[in-house]
Amino acid sequence: MSLKEYLAGQTRLVDSALNRWVPDAEAPPRIIHRAMRYSLFAGGKRIRPILCIEAARTVSDETAGVEDVACTLELIHTYSLIHDDLPALDNDDLRRGRPTCHKIFGEAMAILAGDALLTLAFQVLARLECVDDRQRARLVDELATASGTVGGMIGGQVNDLEGEGKPPDPLLLESIHRAKTGALLRASLRMGAIFAGADQAAYDALSCFGEHAGLAFQIVDDLLDVEQSSEQLGKTAGKDAAQHKITFPAVYGVERSHAMAERERLLAHAALERFGPRAARLRELADLIVQRKA
Ligand code: IPE
Ligand code: IPE
Ligand code: MG
Ligand code: MG
Ligand code: MG
Repeated sequence: MSLKEYLAGQTRLVDSALNRWVPDAEAPPRIIHRAMRYSLFAGGKRIRPILCIEAARTVSDETAGVEDVACTLELIHTYSLIHDDLPALDNDDLRRGRPTCHKIFGEAMAILAGDALLTLAFQVLARLECVDDRQRARLVDELATASGTVGGMIGGQVNDLEGEGKPPDPLLLESIHRAKTGALLRASLRMGAIFAGADQAAYDALSCFGEHAGLAFQIVDDLLDVEQSSEQLGKTAGKDAAQHKITFPAVYGVERSHAMAERERLLAHAALERFGPRAARLRELADLIVQRKA
């Protein structure tokens, strides 16, 4: 199966799980369910859930139900995007090729839609059927920590906002990127590993892969902001420079940033050595993260 066909199939799997868990658009209060669905089903790449599913498959042949775990990552990710776009944060009008959630539903509903997606993610984990109590507690811990304030997404967003206009600082840059994006990406791999019952060595290897793939992901996000059009990205291009964000191109320039992303790709591959051919798709996903055009 080609990578394109594989990604389309995984996306369908994730989307059907999301569709099952998210309340119907007609369920009252309709406005919030419409806002949640508007942002969720707008054509995101689903890279985090797909990494989660593939991590599980790398360690086990029995992964039925992993898509439910995987969709919790997408719920958190979409919530983080809705809030990232709010006027008080990045103030963006375009996301996933559509007007941002607050542009359509208003700021109050966009804030609540983000809150609701975040809450729903943990409800899904509470209701998972294919895990034991120990696994459930570990999954909750991974998702909460990766989304949280200490080295997690919210902590990274705080430093990203406070970094606006500050002089380009390599250490601050790396800590922002590892936290705001890397933590959830790494958690995607870890949660797949936990679901599949990975031993410590397999968990560590997948975690290491996730760390490198996660840093690569945000380096490339920064590069795309400089190199692509808004139409191609489905979000506003050129915003980072306009808002004086601390980014890889701002600190290192475009060429060096490409080289650094490539280095992370190779380190991600190296982390998978022990899995041999079982990790073929994960290798392709690391390549995709670095070579993508949107
Ligand atoms: C964008 O994430 C925000 C970052 C964390 C860099 P994605 O590039 O995964 O966005 P979608 O989900 O495909 O829209
Ligand atoms: C956002 O980083 C990371 C999140 C936690 C949402 P960016 O602000 O660079 O994401 P985009 O470029 O708006 O998608
Ligand atoms: Mg931002
Ligand atoms: Mg943004
Ligand atoms: Mg960006």
